[in-house]
Amino acid sequence: MSTSIESVLVENRVFPPNEEFVRNAVIPGMDAYKALYKEAEDDFEGFWRRQANEHLRWTRPFTQVLDSSGAPFYKWFADGELNVSYNCLDKHVEEGRGDQTAIIFEADDGAVTPVTYKALLGRVCRFANGLKAAGYKKGDTAIIYLPMSIEAVVAMQACARLGIIHSVVFGGFSAKSLHERIVDVGASVVITADGQYRGGKALPLKPAVDEALSQSNTEKVRSVIVYRRTGGDTHWVDGRDIWWEDFEQGQSDECEPVVMNSEDPLFILYTSGSTGKPKGVQHSSAGYLLWAMLTVKWTFDQKPGDVFWCTADVGWITGHTYVAYGPLAAGLTQVVFEGVPTYPNAGRFWDMIGRHKVTTFYTAPTAIRSLIKASDADAKVHPDSFDLSSLRIIGSVGEPINPEAWVWYYKNVGKERCPIVDTWWQTETGGQMITPLPGATPLKPGSCTLPLPGIFAAIVDETGEDVPNGKGGFLVIKKPWPAMIRNVWGDSERYKNSYFPAEYRGYYLAGDGAQRDNDGYFWIMGRIDDVLNVSGHRLGTMEVESALVSHELVAEAAVVGRPDATTGEAVVAFVVLKRDRPHGDEAKEIAKQLRDWVAKEIGPIAKPKDIRFGDNLPKTRSGKIMRRLLRVVAKGEEVTQDVSTLENPAILEQLTESV
Ligand code: WTA
Repeated sequence: MSTSIESVLVENRVFPPNEEFVRNAVIPGMDAYKALYKEAEDDFEGFWRRQANEHLRWTRPFTQVLDSSGAPFYKWFADGELNVSYNCLDKHVEEGRGDQTAIIFEADDGAVTPVTYKALLGRVCRFANGLKAAGYKKGDTAIIYLPMSIEAVVAMQACARLGIIHSVVFGGFSAKSLHERIVDVGASVVITADGQYRGGKALPLKPAVDEALSQSNTEKVRSVIVYRRTGGDTHWVDGRDIWWEDFEQGQSDECEPVVMNSEDPLFILYTSGSTGKPKGVQHSSAGYLLWAMLTVKWTFDQKPGDVFWCTADVGWITGHTYVAYGPLAAGLTQVVFEGVPTYPNAGRFWDMIGRHKVTTFYTAPTAIRSLIKASDADAKVHPDSFDLSSLRIIGSVGEPINPEAWVWYYKNVGKERCPIVDTWWQTETGGQMITPLPGATPLKPGSCTLPLPGIFAAIVDETGEDVPNGKGGFLVIKKPWPAMIRNVWGDSERYKNSYFPAEYRGYYLAGDGAQRDNDGYFWIMGRIDDVLNVSGHRLGTMEVESALVSHELVAEAAVVGRPDATTGEAVVAFVVLKRDRPHGDEAKEIAKQLRDWVAKEIGPIAKPKDIRFGDNLPKTRSGKIMRRLLRVVAKGEEVTQDVSTLENPAILEQLTESV
């Protein structure tokens, strides 16, 4: 963190939008932004009423905008009715855009499959009819465990069409993580694939489903629908498993959308918090959709003819809002990519931008940093070797973008012509919250700049009092917004305690530390809780710790984050074994076992980069692990703080040794 703050201090250039861009923008200039912001300030409910009426198709119009009577359990547009899938698909077909390409799918091996809005609607309806025929209905819950594919979007939209609440599990998560989520949402159906292609390799998916379903509390799952992607032998449970093509065989490509109440849950998505168990973030139908669509329009300045590409997997919130819902609601043409940025080489993204004439590109700082490295090493994969002239806007999401990466992205990808939208938001916020508007906001590298209209972001101290600009504090959102989290699935207490703790005056507490500069720009400093951000993926230190201590060799473990030049943060684990402290090759061997164990327990993204063994952990005399100290040790910095309260100062020496 400290390195990025230092570099922020040396990077003080401001990049205003160019005039031509401003003239043609959806929100043209700072005055237009300020006017919208003021509209929301002066008449909060009127502002949201207008947006919801202008942007959504309602089967039954709402009369009440916001119901705060049960705060912090807010309701938006509560007596309105609509269907999300109708708003994403039928609307465009009815308005004559049926032949427009909705999705350009590019497979790992480069094969391209375009699908029009009309064809996508037909596919969603067929699959939805299959679900209906199998007895699934509104209020049921479905687990989706699919690779990036048209099928993933079809499955999500089909659930939305029928009011089945979906919970997508990222394909990189283990059978154990999958099992936890199947049980927690109470799923009755799992939609998966036999396998997936990534970087030229076929990787199995279905075995994880089989393993998860062989465990307890999964009896509710009646069907497993399997999309055939990689082929080959697949373990099969007769009566439970069915191939996707058989499932939708003979189904009509028309399916009446089910009328949903605004507040009916659309999906649940699990994310890491500060305790061991991931939280099921519950989102609504109308409010979520409104914000997904509006932010696509505002933040990305999207207009007919734009080709949008968000590289996030549908297993994350970014892939929900900016792949499965937002771009479709806004009627865009979007690229969906199965593969990885480095296959067949690290020029893949730039090559695809050129071939598909992408105008809007949205990715994570981790990807940018790894591609900087690759293009430094090999000019053939440098953005300069590709035609990026179609680009208008480039974006960043998921973690702070360090000013060096920002400037590289701006120069080499955006050619100093495309604004960068550095978007701050979270799984819980449903959509972008603090971000530049490409035709309005002067950009400062490393700052996510200003809140969107209708979003009342602020920095406060631990009593909820505003802190002056230039002073660090806790990032809060003072008023509710339509796409906000509605609950933690099955755990209302956790919802209240995590996001609306009493000291913060009813504000939404984001869990990030931040400060504003003298222009009111927001600078995010990172999480204030025990959540790490590794390659833009949220990971709880407690989650990794509980995985480690569940290994038979481990007595105790403490996990901290360390700044990492590529992944943002890296996982460092301090481990005490039940046996003696291992050395040399044996230590290496055990460290490998533990890494593989964590991959099996959570998923490969959670593997510790660095494991260190000690006879004990540094603890205070009252027995608390001194994590602050461990963070210093993890960075390889000298411990300057007072260690006199330590029970066992000699331990520190051991823990400086990496295996
Ligand atoms: C971090 C991803 C700095 C932040 C959409 C937040 C960011 C967490 C940015 C949410 C950004 C996200 N600048 N930090 N532009 N965007 N973060 O739930 O710490 O996976 O709390 O949502 O990522 O991660 P999540």
